[in-house]
Amino acid sequence: MPRPNGQASRGARILANAPKELLTQPLVRLGEGIGKVVYASPRWVVKRVRSDSEVIALIVLWRLLRRWERFLPVGLGRHLLQRPSRRIRILRVFTQMVIHVLPDRLWYATHIGTVWKRYREQDHRGEKLARDYLLGTSLVPGHIAFPRTHVRIKGWPYWLTVDHATERVECTLHQRLNALAREGRYEEIEQWLNRFLDLRQQGWRLGLFSVDAHLKNFGVVEDRVVLLDAGGLTNEWEEVENRLAFEDVVVEPHIQLGLGALLGARPDIAARFNARWKQVVSVKGVRRHWQALRPVGSGEGV
Ligand SMILES: Nc1ncnc2c1ncn2[C@@H]1O[C@H](COP(=O)(O)OP(=O)(O)O)[C@@H](O)[C@H]1O
Ligand SMILES: [Mg+2]
Repeated sequence: MPRPNGQASRGARILANAPKELLTQPLVRLGEGIGKVVYASPRWVVKRVRSDSEVIALIVLWRLLRRWERFLPVGLGRHLLQRPSRRIRILRVFTQMVIHVLPDRLWYATHIGTVWKRYREQDHRGEKLARDYLLGTSLVPGHIAFPRTHVRIKGWPYWLTVDHATERVECTLHQRLNALAREGRYEEIEQWLNRFLDLRQQGWRLGLFSVDAHLKNFGVVEDRVVLLDAGGLTNEWEEVENRLAFEDVVVEPHIQLGLGALLGARPDIAARFNARWKQVVSVKGVRRHWQALRPVGSGEGV
């Protein structure tokens, strides 16, 4: 049931003080996406929401790289696209400077402005859905809330103000699959891929579907897959159908998920996974579960 104040709601442990480990040492940078940068202490992560100009700079950069990939030295464009490394951060700062000197109106009127607005809206909606339906379930990492606290970040001159933190997962699903592949542990890869599909179906039973279900948005805790990034969640069937129409034309889902090289040595696992994915991530497959578990009457207001 949606609650008036999302932050300190069911499932979040509310503490009188922030955990000591957030304060005793500067937090390290753990990962980043388009909209957030994630910092961590040994057991907890906090997220810094990027400024609007930072997000726009990233979108501009992303599109330029996409367009220029084939002109850049072999692999460089792809390398930059795949890992937001130091180089991409430097490029981003330059792009941001350009954006700063041009009027805001210009950006918001362009396609980039539209992409940015869609991203922000989706992110807010997804976070709200996650607070209302997923907090405190085994589908997401644990969550704690505490009074506003200033934390230090390694290599960053400012303080970051936070009032909640999320359980730090062992690694992303993407990292786990790659680590297992390096060790040739393919049976376990297949098991994790099945758990990933199982988790998605549990979400559908709650009437939640992720339109951004890539492997870096999911994490691993013990033997569970959890959702890390609620940004792509929707509860609107029309949007789900649109996404499924796209899935319908994907012939090899494992390629789409970036598992082509990883499963190159095991076409049998790729084939089994693709067959299961095609069956499960389809209109028929999602409809079978959709909203079966959502509490009656809780549909309003979301
Ligand atoms: N609870 C967590 N534990 C460990 N790493 C995390 C956690 N949450 C996020 N991350 C890392 O940070 C990255 C970006 O976080 P995410 O919420 O996906 O931000 P964005 O909305 O910008 O994509 C993730 O891909 C993952 O690598
Ligand atoms: Mg993400």
